[in-house]
Amino acid sequence: MTQAETAALAPHLPVVATTIDDVRRRLETLAGDVAGAATDARPRVALVPTMGALHEGHLALVDRAAELADIVVVSVFVNPLQFTDPADLERYPRDLDADLATLAGHGADLVFAPDVTEIYPRGDTATRVTAGKVGGLFEGRSRPGHFDGVLTVVAKLLNIVGPQFVLFGEKDAQQVFLVRRMIADLNLPVAVEEVETVRDDDGLALSSRNRFLDARERRAAVTLPHVLEAAVSASDRGIDAVLAAAQSAAMGEQLVAMDYLAVVHPDTFLPVDDDYTGPARAIVAARVGDTRLIDNAPLYLGR
Ligand code: PAF
Repeated sequence: MTQAETAALAPHLPVVATTIDDVRRRLETLAGDVAGAATDARPRVALVPTMGALHEGHLALVDRAAELADIVVVSVFVNPLQFTDPADLERYPRDLDADLATLAGHGADLVFAPDVTEIYPRGDTATRVTAGKVGGLFEGRSRPGHFDGVLTVVAKLLNIVGPQFVLFGEKDAQQVFLVRRMIADLNLPVAVEEVETVRDDDGLALSSRNRFLDARERRAAVTLPHVLEAAVSASDRGIDAVLAAAQSAAMGEQLVAMDYLAVVHPDTFLPVDDDYTGPARAIVAARVGDTRLIDNAPLYLGR
């Protein structure tokens, strides 16, 4: 029995589609079911794009999607286009059965889990969405082309599923900024919903990459939320105080190699000027052992 057949037999699990034709067909069927049960016209569809390795952070997106829409689609696709390091792509966790079990009871109706050849049938796709200047900063500086890959696959998934809502986690702040801008620039008819970061008890943001941390690294990783807490507590004293406080919180943990620490403007995702006051976002990335982690926090810069 195939995975899709097994999932279809178990009502508590979402249906799995692996091809574009199948996902569109199943969406039509689901829309027919919803329209048959309700009086108002077109059922609303929400898409939660993921690369699998699902955790509570993803479930918060799925739960919010179920509040917003009649039909919730979760895509599970490890997108090779956004990986710059082949070893990172290779080791990225892939376990669809575990992902389906995680989703059980969380309101996902359909899981779209295509093969690479379904999404990129001609191999290296010639047509790509480019993320521009901001795409080359921060995450994009250490992973050139990463955001072009993210935007290209998100555009494809939006075209395949045709949702009214698409949901992303606040943890990937630069990704959310760039997706919002793509949607505005390309006039895509979809609303972006951003969901607050889910954290472990000690403050570490949940991430599929946390599973790569050994016990010592996991303890050291809490440096990232500590850096952000220091930044937020100094925010009423201006940008220099914020950066100084954050830098001193980052020091002294041998297993943590800071990559960047910056405070960006919410409208441009560029570092704020020295005399800026107003809403901003502190962003941080660090390597903990071999694992690269990111995090961010909103703050209000005073003087
Ligand atoms: O955030 C992710 O998991 C990925 O970048 C996304 C949005 C699913 C695109 O592959």
